[in-house]
Amino acid sequence: KKILFASSETHPLIKTGGLADVAGSLPIALTNLDQDVRVIMPHYQGIKNCEPGRYLCTVRVNNCDVNLLETHLPESDVVVWLVDYPPYFNHPGNPYHDENGIPWPDIGDRFALFCRIVVEVAMNRAYLDWKPDVVHCNDWQTGLVPALLSLEEHRPATVFTIHNMAYQGVFPSNAYTLLNLPGQLWHPDGLEYHGMLSFIKGGLSYSDWITTVSPTYAQEIQTPEFGYGLEGLLAHRQPTLSGIINGIDTKVWNPETDPFIAQTYSGKTLGKKVLNKTALQARLGLPVNADLPLLGLIGRLVDQKGIDLVLSCLKELVNMPLQFALLGSGDNSIQVRLQDFARLYPDKVSVTIGYDENLAHQIEAGSDLFLMPSRFEPCGLNQMYSQRYGTLPVVRKTGGLADTVVDTLPDTIKNGTASGFVFNDAVPGALLETIKRALVVHANPKLWQELQRNAMRKDFSWENSANQYLALYREI
Ligand code: ADP
Ligand code: GLC
Repeated sequence: KKILFASSETHPLIKTGGLADVAGSLPIALTNLDQDVRVIMPHYQGIKNCEPGRYLCTVRVNNCDVNLLETHLPESDVVVWLVDYPPYFNHPGNPYHDENGIPWPDIGDRFALFCRIVVEVAMNRAYLDWKPDVVHCNDWQTGLVPALLSLEEHRPATVFTIHNMAYQGVFPSNAYTLLNLPGQLWHPDGLEYHGMLSFIKGGLSYSDWITTVSPTYAQEIQTPEFGYGLEGLLAHRQPTLSGIINGIDTKVWNPETDPFIAQTYSGKTLGKKVLNKTALQARLGLPVNADLPLLGLIGRLVDQKGIDLVLSCLKELVNMPLQFALLGSGDNSIQVRLQDFARLYPDKVSVTIGYDENLAHQIEAGSDLFLMPSRFEPCGLNQMYSQRYGTLPVVRKTGGLADTVVDTLPDTIKNGTASGFVFNDAVPGALLETIKRALVVHANPKLWQELQRNAMRKDFSWENSANQYLALYREI
């Protein structure tokens, strides 16, 4: 099959979250299954880790002349087409915000243009001599693609993957006219959402198939709590909606070969893992103590991630014999509260605000426990990285967390599946109790190592999931 994979971010070219990890690894997994995959994304100023784009052609859409450039995902031959329109994409900052975290005011124009170019490429009108069988779109930034393609004859099939229902790309109704979108798509079963323009509805209403990144999240989004007003539409699409769990890049996230960590290790040499803890403590300026349990957390500091639950527990956690290391960036108010804790308890709490892949690997390898108390989590990748690193995750039972972490209970210990600690309610007490429960187990090294090995043995590679996508492409 020929597959055009459209994404607003792709690791390692540019990344703000898990979408980039998926866009940087699923196309490679599909290529390994002999599929012909091309990634298409905007040509941002911040793109790195790839050879400079080679000019292919210029395409004119909506009175804009847009260049297409070609590069590759590093260390693979997956082609990446870069949509080059400097007035929109040649700016410092990330795909969604400027350097100060202020959302781009013209973000709707930017991704509408991107979508139009994806459509031209999909219809083989961009002089590339390549017509996909399937266009695989991801999140609201690509939502107009299935909508616009629905108006075309002899169009490729479309898949729309929801990575996060909380981001929908909703704009005031006048954006519809300004973006010069076709009138036929403006109705409540189309792009209109309570009188506004919704990009995500383009994907949800018009794609041939909807996937989301875990089976549990596929169910959850059909309920008001997780559907953000679109649960009705999603329930209606239930026959063509499924959940496929994300894989992880097992080359990048491998404790046996990881170049970023102080000491590589495996399930057989778990004793060496502690050298990563002491190296991490030293790097972060925490007291170096191999025996103290170290709790790690990495992520975008937004409501979704349940950081408020951690903040509420911290008052108590700092009185316990443990350390806590956090890396993240996001909402200013959360950052400030975390930094206050770090200032008050420098021996217990380390907070690094920013984005740092190197440190992310060191926290995964150096921590004993990894906290992921998300309020919702479509899939989540860090809990899988953690398990692979023998760093047992403490997670809330939601979305992909529920699908990938097995709670430690008498029967799961006995059958060798226990791989972390799971709690139900999004309340601080439940998180705190679960951390305490984990620490009791941690005090029993033999049992702890058994759980670490259970976790490290699990197969989170892409192969299985890529095969599920392939079966889906064939079906539609
Ligand atoms: P989400 O996509 O909701 O942010 P995921 O768990 O799917 O959550 O993916 C987050 C990805 O981004 C992981 O690869 C994680 O390691 C990475 N990440 C998040 N914040 C940071 C940070 N501050 N520094 C380095 N990596 C980060
Ligand atoms: C989103 C979700 C996250 C998921 C990622 C990749 O950003 O928040 O749970 O793992 O997309 O699919």
